[in-house]
Amino acid sequence: MKIYRTSDYREMSRTAAMILAAQIRLKPDCVLGLATGSTPVGAYEELVRMHRDGHLDFSLVKSANLDEYRGLTRDNDQSYYYFMQQNLFGQVNIRPENTFIPDGSQPDAEAECVRYEKILAGLGGVDLQILGLGHNGHIGFNEPADSFARTTHCVDLTRSTIEANKRFFEKEEDVPRQAYTMGIGTIMRARKILLLVSGGSKAEILKEAVCGPVTPQVPASILQFHPDVTLIADEAALARFDA
Ligand code: F6R
Repeated sequence: MKIYRTSDYREMSRTAAMILAAQIRLKPDCVLGLATGSTPVGAYEELVRMHRDGHLDFSLVKSANLDEYRGLTRDNDQSYYYFMQQNLFGQVNIRPENTFIPDGSQPDAEAECVRYEKILAGLGGVDLQILGLGHNGHIGFNEPADSFARTTHCVDLTRSTIEANKRFFEKEEDVPRQAYTMGIGTIMRARKILLLVSGGSKAEILKEAVCGPVTPQVPASILQFHPDVTLIADEAALARFDA
C-alpha cells in the first residue's frame, strides 16, 4: 500500500484529483469506480475545476458507483444518484448513459443486484476505484459482518452508519435502513484503489484497517490483500500511525 500523508482535507482532495486526472488522461475511456459521502466532494470539485479550465475531458469516461440507498428514487436529494449529479456528473462532460449507479427505487433486491453485477461485468472491470472509510470500517456499504460479501447485495445499515449519515437528513427516521452496495469481491476486482480518509474521527479505524488483522469485522482491512492500493490521508486521520 502506498501512503500519501497530506496536511489537510484540501491537499488530500487535490492529490486524489491529480491521480484521477492522470488515469483519465492515460486511458480516456477508463472505468472509474465512484463513492459518495463527504470525503470525495473536494476531489470532485477539483476535477470539475480541471474540466472547466479545459484540461480534462470526460467524454469517453465510464463510471460505476459503489452504492445507493434502497427505497430512494433518483430525484430524492439524498439519493446517491442526486449527489453524483450535483457534485460531478452535472458539471463535466461525462455522458449520462456512461454512468451507472444501483437503482434504489427497484423493490426487487435480488434482481437489482444481479442487474448491477452484469453491468459491472459488461464494463470490463473498474480501472480506478475511489473509496471512503466508514467509522466502523465499512467500504461501500459493506458493514462489519461474519464474512466478506462477494458481489453486489442488499445490506441492512448498522446503527453506526445510520448515526453517521443522519447529518444529511432532516431527521434520523428518514435515513433509509437498507442499501445496495458492490460487494467486497466486486471492489477487490478493481485494478487500482484509491482510499481517501480525512479527520481525527477516522484515525483509530484507519489504523485498524491498515495495520490490524484482516477480518470482515473491519471490512476495509481486506484492502491489505489488494496489490495496488493508494491511501491518501490527512495528518489528522494518520495520527495513530505515529503512536
Ligand atoms: C459512499 C460510501 C461510504 C462512504 C463512507 C464514508 O458511497 O461508499 O462507504 O465512503 O461512509 O463517508 P464520509 O465520506 O461521509 O465520511
